[in-house]
Amino acid sequence: MAAARRARRHARADYSQFRVGAALETADGTIVTGCNIENATYGLTICAERVAMFKALSEGHRRFRRIAVVADTQAPTPPCGACRQILWEFGGDLEVVLANLRRMTGRMQLKDLLPMPFDRRLLR
Ligand code: THU
Repeated sequence: MAAARRARRHARADYSQFRVGAALETADGTIVTGCNIENATYGLTICAERVAMFKALSEGHRRFRRIAVVADTQAPTPPCGACRQILWEFGGDLEVVLANLRRMTGRMQLKDLLPMPFDRRLLR
């Protein structure tokens, strides 16, 4: 959670002002962070969770344990649908820890956030 809070400070959220940080823990305990990065076209925005996962994959990490997501909200801020799909594809049933700037706001498994995933098993 602390790493996600630090990463959130780097968010490029000029359009929404909604800053998000993520910290992905790999199987060997490495923590790879991400923040949301917006763009004037809006549609090219990428969420903190996907930045963290794509950074980790591009650095050669292949197995993951959990991800922390931090936003400045009282209610839990869970990963969006696109991020759930990408986290499932590369991370499987990760533990997802949600937090705000002061406390943990939720903790769940990705399979419960994406209960009927479309994935490679259907492509055989
Ligand atoms: N966002 C994230 O980075 N992660 C989430 O879990 C929810 C949404 C970003 C995308 C956009 O930059 C801003 O928050 C508002 O939707």
